[in-house]
Amino acid sequence: MNILAIETSCDETAASVVSSQHQVLSNVIVSQMDIHAAFGGVVPEVASRHHVTSIQRVIQEALHQAHLKPTDIDVVAVTKGPGLIGALLVGINAAKAFGYVHNIPLLGVNHLKGHIHAISLSHTMQYPLVALLVSGGHTELIYMPEDGVYELLGATKDDAVGEAYDKVARTLGLGYPGGPLIDQLAVKGVASYSLPTPMKDEAGFDFSFSGLKSAVINLIHNETQRGEAIRVADVCASFQETVVDTLVKKTILAARTFQVKQVAVVGGVSANLGLRNAIEAYQGEFDVVVPKLEYCTDNAAMIGAAAFAMIRNHEPFDTIELDGSVHSDIFNQGDF
Ligand code: KG4
Ligand code: ZN
Repeated sequence: MNILAIETSCDETAASVVSSQHQVLSNVIVSQMDIHAAFGGVVPEVASRHHVTSIQRVIQEALHQAHLKPTDIDVVAVTKGPGLIGALLVGINAAKAFGYVHNIPLLGVNHLKGHIHAISLSHTMQYPLVALLVSGGHTELIYMPEDGVYELLGATKDDAVGEAYDKVARTLGLGYPGGPLIDQLAVKGVASYSLPTPMKDEAGFDFSFSGLKSAVINLIHNETQRGEAIRVADVCASFQETVVDTLVKKTILAARTFQVKQVAVVGGVSANLGLRNAIEAYQGEFDVVVPKLEYCTDNAAMIGAAAFAMIRNHEPFDTIELDGSVHSDIFNQGDF
């Protein structure tokens, strides 16, 4: 079976062909990062317009690289949400048209499910598992007792981790997206600034990052006002250490509580080297897995991987009525 997968939920126009056994035959991504960098973040309308101009070319290229014709495709899968509505609609309509014209079934895929199943592109998923999903829009701990069952254990009460990274980077004048830049600088610095540990005394699996983000931003402003030079790499190291500590502690607490076999870290922030190294320390106690780097940030191969899981679990296909307006952006609202 060959699945053509399409992803346009934010600022990447992506298409991929994934075949059975999770073989990625092509994985095409046209990033708009440079365009949005000028604004310091993603501008939704600009993103939609660029998706419109790129989508056909990206789909053609994905088929071309896979050496397949449209008639070789068995299912067209597309991100149905959560994401920027205008951006989602471009991918959804392209998928609907492709499916309709070639008489191929259509499957709308939750973007977060995509991030989780990115794991299956390089590892066998083992249940029960706990997944830490960390991206620009989400920070969630998800428990999967078995294939196809998702339970939300906790989520951020305010900012997502990626969002906090991007805002701290912007205040430091590092550019967009900030995550990779902070990650690179963190290894060159020392965690010598003292920062508050988020939700230190709170039980449960929720997160909060806006207090930490504000503390870093205040620190930068105060030092600047005092005329002190900011040790940028040290700020990055301090911020990253606090974030990674918080994420790993809660993830391991959840993994022990639910006695899981596998611990997965997924989403754009799972590309973070500090986080990957820190969670790797628990290899042995659990089977610790992270996606390959190219499948951490948004891509369409992960949407294809999630589509395979949905088909395996007999989830129904979608109709021409599929649109991006009905979706939940967290796991426990029934539309996951
Ligand atoms: O999953 P993703 O591509 O898009 C969303 O679904 O949001 O995640 C993008 C986020 C951005 O906030 C970006 O700064 C962050 O992932 N990110 C990182 C790293 N690479 C990407 N954050 C920390 N360290 C990284 N190496
Ligand atoms: Zn994402």
